[in-house]
This record gives sequence, C-alpha cells and structure tokens, in this order.
Amino acid sequence: MLKNLLKNMKLGVKLNLILFVVFFVIILINGIFLSNILQNNAEQEVANQALILMETMTSVREYTGDQVNVGTIKKLSPNLEIDGEFIKVSVPGYSASEVFRNLRKREQYSDFLYKEATLNPTALRDKADKFEAEVVDRFRGKHNLKRISKTEQPEERGFRDTSAGKLFYIARPLQIQNKSCLVCHSTPDQAPASQIKTYGSENGFGWQLDEVVGAQVISVPASKVFAEARGLQRIVIGILVLGFLVAALVLNLFLKLSILNPLVKMSRWSTAVSTGTSESDFEHQANDEIGLLAASLNRLKVSLQMAMNMLKQNPNP
Ligand code: HEC
Repeated sequence: MLKNLLKNMKLGVKLNLILFVVFFVIILINGIFLSNILQNNAEQEVANQALILMETMTSVREYTGDQVNVGTIKKLSPNLEIDGEFIKVSVPGYSASEVFRNLRKREQYSDFLYKEATLNPTALRDKADKFEAEVVDRFRGKHNLKRISKTEQPEERGFRDTSAGKLFYIARPLQIQNKSCLVCHSTPDQAPASQIKTYGSENGFGWQLDEVVGAQVISVPASKVFAEARGLQRIVIGILVLGFLVAALVLNLFLKLSILNPLVKMSRWSTAVSTGTSESDFEHQANDEIGLLAASLNRLKVSLQMAMNMLKQNPNP
C-alpha cells in the first residue's frame, strides 16, 4: 500500500513531503530544547527588571537614611517628632515601601510586589512568611555577621506558590551595615519615644551590626514570565516557519526549472524521436547531470539513426 503510494508519487510531492518531515522534526526539537532556553531567558529578563527596582529601593533607603534622617530631620527635630508624632518619612524602610507603592500606580509596574521580609519586623506587615523566613535563614547561614560587599550581593530566585497564585520572586539579604540603624533597632530605650508610641516596644529590636535581619523580595506573577517566554517562542517559531516557506519555495522552483521541466521535455523529445516525428538534437544549456543525460541521449539517437539507415540499405542481411 505504502510502497504503491510511494511508487506513484511525483518527485515534487516527495520533495515537499521530505521538507515537511524535516520541518516537523525541527519544530519538535525546538519545542524540547528551545522552550527551556527561552524560559530561562524570560526569567532573566524579568529578574533584570526586578533587580533594577531592588537597587532603586536600596538607593531610596540610603537617601532617606543619609539626607532625610541624619542630614535634615535630626537637625530640625533630634527626637524625630513633630507635635509628639513620630516623623515616619525619616525611616528608610518606610520611604522605600511608600516609593514602591507610588511606582505600582504605573500600569507597567502594577503587578510587581516589594517586601522587606524580616524575621523580627518593626511593622508587622513586613513579617516574613514561612517561605520567606526560609530564604532569610539560608542567607543568614552563609552571611550573618560578616559584611556583604555591594559587589558580592548573594541572591535567590525562583517560583513559589502563594494564596494569590504562583509567583516568580527574586530575593537579596537585608543586612544592618550602619550603626545609625541601631538607634531605632537595638533596644527600645535608645529609640525615639515617638517611634515606640507608634510601633510599640515589642518588635524590630535586638538587631546587631552586620546581622542579616531579613530579605528584600521582589515578586511578579509567574504568568508574566510565561507570557514573556511565549512571546519569544512565537517570534522564534515565526522565523522558522518563514525560513521554511522560503526554503520550500526556492527548492520547488529549483526542482521545477532544473530537473522536472527538462525531464518532461526530454520525455516528449524521445517520444517524438522514437515515432520519427523529430530528428533534431535535444537542446540543454547547462553542463549538469541533465546535460550529461541529454548528450548521451543525443548519441543514442545518432546510433539509432545509423542502425536504422543500415537496416534500410540492407534489409535482408
Ligand atoms: C528613625 C528610626 C529608624 C532608623 C534610623 C532606621 N529604622 Fe528601620 N525601621 C524603623 C521603623 C519605624 C520601621 C517600620 C516602618 C514602617 O512603618 O514600614 C522600620 C522598618 C525597617 C525594616 C523593614 C522591616 C520592619 O522592621 O518593619 C528594615 C529592614 C529596616 N527598618 C532596616 C533598617 C536599616 C538597615 C536601617 C539603617 C540603614 C534602619 N532600618 C534605620 C525605624 C528606623
């Protein structure tokens, strides 16, 4: 059945069948290997955005610590209070979370989440959940009480399941690298009275210099990563299909002009020669294999004619 089918198949159909199988195999291989590469690529792309945001938040923290707190507010109000109210804008962690809240109002960043996930936080919303606490513990295991330089920032990234769905997260340790932090985070009696009034004296104390107290975590819905990967995959498949179509077109054109057309012409010509309706040579310009065949056929025709002539001159040997 298949043998018969193949037997009756024209060259052009065979060529296109082969091309299709090759293309199918390429798409399959692409599906297996490339999708992994593209997924990593997409993760890297999202992680890069997240890292820039994280560095920005760290810069906001530094600005608030140096210029707002120590540089300005401490000079205006050493107890960091106005009319007995704690001046929150002097707190690095507060300004970072407020700046991020504003950033999220922009549509393009609205699905990014920022958290200073801390084991013993001053503001309870910063409390590390179970998953984050494990991340912080891993950072503490490797880096606690040893100063981490800006260039060797360790990081962790991956996917996690939450009640809000699957998230892609990227985390870096939050380390107390400045004595000035300990004014508000060592013991309640050292902290501004107004801070205690607002946040209480239970949480966010007992931190030490160079201690990793938490992790900066930026998360995005995993669907954002997958959408990015799918976008890349679509582009790659689009390019493959286009390349395949162009290759198929060129090969079909080549087959038709260089092989099929001359073969059909040759077949008509030999029929004409064999029935005696033509005596001309077969014309073929190119010196390729078809040209060789044409030359042999022309020689065959001459031999045939000679034999016929001999037969005519001497019909009864
Ligand atoms: C003026 C007092 C003050 C200083 C100085 C200060 N913090 Fe805080 N910190 C706070 C308060 C208050 C909060 C809670 C802010 C909020 O409402 O989000 C906080 C929040 C944080 C958080 C988020 C987790 C939590 O406790 O809620 C981290 C991490 C943190 N601080 C680290 C630091 C580091 C590092 C420094 C030094 C660069 C520093 N803080 C300096 C008072 C201070």
